[in-house]
Amino acid sequence: MDDLKSAKPVIFAVALLVTLFISACAFLLFEGGILSLFFLAITSALLGGSIHSYYRERLLRKTERGFVENIPGLGWTSDGGGRIRSMNSRMREFLQVPRGSLVVSPESIHPEDKYKTLDLWGQQHRSEKRGTHRLLGPDGRYHWFRSAVHPILDQSGVVVSSWGTFIDISDLKAAEDALRSSEENLRTILDHIPENIVIADSNGENEYSNQHSMIFYGSMFHEVNGSGYHKFIHPDDVDEYVADTLFCIENAVPMNRLVRQRRYDGVYRWFRMRVNPAFDENGKVVRWYGLHIDIDDEVKAMAALQDAKDKLAQASEYASLAELAASIAHEVNQPLAAVVTNSEACQLWLSAESLNLDRARTNVSRIVRDAKGAADIVSRIRELFAKKAPHKEAADINNLLNEMIGLILKKYSDKRLSISMDLDEHIPLIELDRVQIQQLMFNILRNGVEAMRENGEVPMRLDISSRVAGDAAIVRVADNGIGLADSRKVFEPFFTTKSDGMGMGLSICRTIVDAHSGRLWAEANPSRGAVFAFELPIHDAISLGDIGRRGSRDQPDV
Ligand SMILES: Nc1ncnc2c1ncn2[C@@H]1O[C@H](COP(=O)(O)OP(=O)(O)OP(=O)(O)O)[C@@H](O)[C@H]1O
Ligand SMILES: [Mg+2]
Repeated sequence: MDDLKSAKPVIFAVALLVTLFISACAFLLFEGGILSLFFLAITSALLGGSIHSYYRERLLRKTERGFVENIPGLGWTSDGGGRIRSMNSRMREFLQVPRGSLVVSPESIHPEDKYKTLDLWGQQHRSEKRGTHRLLGPDGRYHWFRSAVHPILDQSGVVVSSWGTFIDISDLKAAEDALRSSEENLRTILDHIPENIVIADSNGENEYSNQHSMIFYGSMFHEVNGSGYHKFIHPDDVDEYVADTLFCIENAVPMNRLVRQRRYDGVYRWFRMRVNPAFDENGKVVRWYGLHIDIDDEVKAMAALQDAKDKLAQASEYASLAELAASIAHEVNQPLAAVVTNSEACQLWLSAESLNLDRARTNVSRIVRDAKGAADIVSRIRELFAKKAPHKEAADINNLLNEMIGLILKKYSDKRLSISMDLDEHIPLIELDRVQIQQLMFNILRNGVEAMRENGEVPMRLDISSRVAGDAAIVRVADNGIGLADSRKVFEPFFTTKSDGMGMGLSICRTIVDAHSGRLWAEANPSRGAVFAFELPIHDAISLGDIGRRGSRDQPDV
């Protein structure tokens, strides 16, 4: 507006001169009449108006160029017909448009974008259409630009001019390309992982399955996506699977279970299904990421292995049963033979010819002793084979040890006997049959003391310890007794080195430990004597029978 003000004197000077000239002509033509004055007024008004709008237009262009020049990108303006009216120096420099020219060479457009770009530019001046295209820069490289146009309309809605910009988005495009290529890379990795990968939305509806899944489900693959996943679960597993899925979704917790899924050929295979939720910053589940590992071969191999183990155990049971029967026959036979001999002798001492009541009485008492001995053997054997299912309850193994040590000290009140204890206080409660485990501990402690008593006058020392090792609790009883000649043979039924022993104690111990899925073993005490140790599991391991059966939401690995 200031420019307009400063232009006013010039406008008026020119208008004045022209008016003076026309007035002079009119004065001469109409000889100074009233008509000459009228002419004078009209001419000066018309001339002044057109000169004013000329300057006004020039100023508008100048202002427009000023604006376009300051656009932080390539900028241009066009007239209502779409002809370029101005462009800023950035655009000139970038597209190498010489001064004085307003023509952008089509060669500046990337060949692949040429057709669509020229088409867009043809309509852009009268619409607000936007587009992206590559333009050749002075550095000889194509740059990505986003173009936008704003048409300016007059009061009747006709486009009188347009303003346009090109913004360089090469960096953005490069970032997009990098992101796309990293996405493709990730997809390739997922597709080549030889397990089924499944991604579901927050409601558990499948959104994505990798290529391996496509191969597994085959032509039914499209049914997997969305909510149709349960159709591929084995009918025996589906109820628990659905219940588990709902539980996990409701509580936003991971799922880890074994389940059978149907392959493209209708064959069901065992899978370890692990699914983890992903949360947003507010702790809301946004997605579920699942990995389904095909463990069918392992499950079948384990079942076959278990079968083979059972058969082997059965076979060795038969073999040891035969040995055991021979040992029992031998053990029972001895007192019975003695009973028979003593009975015959008794018969003799009671006969009229050689009546001797004292001797007969002695024989009868021997018969009673041997018969009791035979009965004892039979009852211990029954104990061994009782196979009573252990009555398990949670118990503190250290407490049981303390109770048994108390009993031993009562039974063997020997001043030479000292007992040291190193018990781990952190052993958790263990599911066990109290009576059986007490019997196990008592047998081992008693054997230890008896082995030390056979040693003569040396001080007797029992070192008892308990500790946790992995998923088990281990109890060790070390003595400084006579030691072991054979650490395996001692577990055989009827093996004894004691005059009054039956050789059944450790066999019974082993049966008890087996019933608790534990281990019992013997080894030499490095200093002197023997060490007997047993191990009881803290957690019950999953058995094959449990596979497919619903356990916890987080089933342990098989
Ligand atoms: N701590 C030990 N040190 C040395 N030898 C041992 C020890 N414990 C057991 N034995 C050996 O193992 C044998 C078998 O033990 P086991 O407890 O089975 O039977 P036993 O003690 O002889 O008789 P019982 O049936 O009355 O227990 C024992 O006779 C002994 O020779
Ligand atoms: Mg014993």
